[in-house]
Amino acid sequence: MTAVNEVAAGARALTVEMVDGIAVVTFDLPGEPVNKFTPGVLEEFGTLLDRADRDTSIRAMVLVSGKPDIFIAGADIDQFLTIHTARDAEAMSRDGQQRMDRLEKCRVPVLAAIHGACLGGGLEAVLACAYRIATDHPKTVLGAPEVMLGLIPGAGGTQRLPRTVGLRGALDMMLTGRNIRAKKALQMGLIDELVHPSILREVALDRARQLAEGKIKRTRARKSRGAAALVLEDTPLGRKVVFRQAREQTLKKTHGHYPAPLAVIDAVRAGYESRERGFAEEARLFGEMAVTDQARQLIFLFFATTALKKDRGVDVPVEPLPVDKLGVLGAGFMGSGIASVAAMQGTVVRLKDAEYSRVAKGLKAVHDVLRERLAKKQISRRQFEDQLSLVGGTIDYSGFQSVDLVVEAVFEDLALKHRVLEEAEAVIPGDAIYASNTSTIPIARIAEPSRRPEQVLGMHFFSPVHKMPLLEVIVTPRTAPVATATAVAYGKKLGKHVIVVNDGPGFYTTRTLAAYMNEAGYLLDEGVPIDALDRAMVEFGFPVGPITLMDEVGLDVGGKVGLVIHEAFGERLAPSESLARVLADGRTGRKGGKGFYRYDASGKKAGVDQSVYQLLPTGTNRVEVPVVEMQQRCTLAMVNEAVRCLEEGILRSPRDGDIGAVFGIGFPPFRGGPFRYTDAVGAANVVRQLEVYHGRFAPRFAPAPMLVEMARSGKRFYPEG
Ligand code: NAI
Repeated sequence: MTAVNEVAAGARALTVEMVDGIAVVTFDLPGEPVNKFTPGVLEEFGTLLDRADRDTSIRAMVLVSGKPDIFIAGADIDQFLTIHTARDAEAMSRDGQQRMDRLEKCRVPVLAAIHGACLGGGLEAVLACAYRIATDHPKTVLGAPEVMLGLIPGAGGTQRLPRTVGLRGALDMMLTGRNIRAKKALQMGLIDELVHPSILREVALDRARQLAEGKIKRTRARKSRGAAALVLEDTPLGRKVVFRQAREQTLKKTHGHYPAPLAVIDAVRAGYESRERGFAEEARLFGEMAVTDQARQLIFLFFATTALKKDRGVDVPVEPLPVDKLGVLGAGFMGSGIASVAAMQGTVVRLKDAEYSRVAKGLKAVHDVLRERLAKKQISRRQFEDQLSLVGGTIDYSGFQSVDLVVEAVFEDLALKHRVLEEAEAVIPGDAIYASNTSTIPIARIAEPSRRPEQVLGMHFFSPVHKMPLLEVIVTPRTAPVATATAVAYGKKLGKHVIVVNDGPGFYTTRTLAAYMNEAGYLLDEGVPIDALDRAMVEFGFPVGPITLMDEVGLDVGGKVGLVIHEAFGERLAPSESLARVLADGRTGRKGGKGFYRYDASGKKAGVDQSVYQLLPTGTNRVEVPVVEMQQRCTLAMVNEAVRCLEEGILRSPRDGDIGAVFGIGFPPFRGGPFRYTDAVGAANVVRQLEVYHGRFAPRFAPAPMLVEMARSGKRFYPEG
C-alpha cells in the first residue's frame, strides 16, 4: 500500500491523501472549532470534484473530518446575514443544490466516514454521497436543524432525505430539527453502516474499494419499512394523510408563528410531484424563509448564544478554578436537580439536607433524572451507574472539607440561608466558592455573615434544572473575578447558557417575570377569564400562559417572590389581589393538586377550577378585555422592566437580557427577546403604548427613562439591526 501526502492545490480546509487509488479527503477548516461550508470551502470541494472527474488514477473518495468530534456542522451561518432579498437566498439555495448534485454525480463513488456531529448542510452533503458509515459514538449525531433558525434545508435536503429514510422519518427530522444518534440512523436507513471509531478509516477504505469495484451498490435498496410505510408513504392517498397530519400538528405546536416547518412540508410534497418541482420549490421556499422576521430573530439568538459561549463573564484575565467536587445544601427540588446535572458532567457531589428522609428523597430524585436518560438511551447502563455513584448524601457537612464549590438551595428564608452559609464556611476550604440558588434575595444580603464575601455569588438555576438551558450568575460589588469566572465556566460545563448580572432584588429574570406575572394578576383582578388570558399569551408565543405558569411554579413561591419584589420596588411592582386571595384559600397550584386550575390524580391539568372565581375580586362576573390588550400589557410590563434592569446596570448588555428572557422565562424566541422586540416594534411605538397604559394604570406603566431617551433620539439597542 502506498500513501502519499499532498495538499490539494490552493487548499486550506481539505487535505487529500492517496491510498491505493482512493482519495482520502480530510476536512479540517483552519482556525475554526468546527467544519462548515464557507464559500472558500465550497470552492475547494468544487476543485476536488473536478480533479476526481479528470484524474483516472482516483477510483473512489472517502470524506473524513480532521476535527475531533465534529464531522460537518453545516453551512456558514454568517453568510445568512448578508442576504437581503428572497431572490439572493433562492440563488444561494440553487447554488447549494447544484454543488450537491455535482457530488452525487461524481465519476467516482464518494463515501462519507462520519465521526461527530453531521448537521444541516453537512447532512445534505452526506445524503449526496454514495455510501455513509458512521461511528457508534455519543458525539456522532445527524440532524437537519434548519427550522430552529427559521429556515429549511436548501441544498437538496428536503428532496434527498425523504428518498433515503422515507417520508415520515424525514418530516420528523426536518420539522423538529432533532439530532439522530448513529444507532437510530442505521435503523432508519440514514446511514449504511455503523462501526467503532477505531476502525472507521479502515472500514471506509475497504468499502470504498468495494464500491469502486462494483462489489457493493452505490445506493442501497431501502430496507423494507413495514406495512405502514407501504400504505402511508408509497401511495398518493397515504401521503396526503401524512402531509395533512404533519400540517395540523405543526400548526397546533407553533400557533402559526413559525412559517419554516410549513415550508418544509410544502417543499417535500412538491418533490413527490416531480424532481424538478421539488428542487425548485425548495429553493423558492428557502429564499422566502431566509428573509422572514422569525429567521432574523432566531439567527440573532444563535449568534448571541454563540458569542455568550466565548464570554468568560469577567473583564480581567483570571483563570477559572477547577470544580471537581460540589457541595449542595438542600436536597429539595432544586438541590437534587443541580446534583443531577453536576453528576452528568462527572462532578463528585455531596448532597446535604437537614434530615435523612429528605436526603433520601433528593437521592431518589437524582436517580430518576439519570434513569430517564438511561431509558432514552442518552447514556449507557455503565454511565448511569458511574454517574449515580458520584452523588453521596449527608446530614452533616461530612465531605465538605474538600469541595471546590457549594451551591445552596435551602428554603427561601434569609435567616436559614445565613445559618447554612456560616455552617458551611466553617468547614469548606478557604478558596472554595459559595453560591446561592436564591430566586429573589439579593446576594449581598445573603453574604452579610460571610467571612469571605469575595467568594460569594448567586448561581440561579431554573426548574427543572436538567431541562432548562439558562443559568443566571449574580455578582455583588465584592465578588472576586475568579469566583465569577469559575461559576461561569462551571455553568457552561453543565451545558447552560450563562449570563452574568449584577446584584439586586430578583436580579434580572425574577424581576422581569414578576412584572409580567403581576400584570396577568391585575387582568384577573379586572375579571378576565383565566383560560382566555392564558390562551392570549400562548397565542403571542409564550410556551404556557401566565396563570398556568403560576400554578406550576407554586402559588406560595410566587406569593413570596411577589412580596420581596414589592418591598424592593414599591407600588410599581405590587402583587395582584387575585393571587393573594387564592393563596389565602390554601391553594398552592399543581403540587398541591389545587390552584387556578384543577388537576387529576396523576397531576394532569384538568381545566379551570370554576370555584376559584368566587375568590377573585370581581367574583363570577367576567369581563372581556381584547386579546391584543392582554398581550400588550403583559409583554410591555416585562419589556419595560427589562429596560430598567439595563439602565440600572443589573444587565451588562441587551444581548444578555434577550438570552435571559428567552431561555429563562419563556419570552417567544421568534420575537428575539425584550430588546430585540423593542427594536423591531420601535422604541417610540413602545413608549407611546406604555404611556397609554400608564394613563390608565399609573404608576405601573411609566416608561423607563432609557426607553424615552431612545424614542427621542431614534437609537436602537442593536444598532446593527
Ligand atoms: P424545596 O423546598 O424543594 O427544597 C429546600 C430543601 O432545603 C428542603 O429539602 C429542606 O429540607 C432543605 N433544608 C432546609 N434546611 C436545611 C438545612 N439547614 N440544611 C440543608 N438543607 C436544608 O425548595 P426548592 O424549590 O428546591 O428551592 C430551593 C431554593 O431554590 C430557594 O432559595 C428557591 O427560591 C430557589 N429556587 C427555586 C426555584 C423553583 O422553581 N422551585 C427556581 C430557582 C430557584
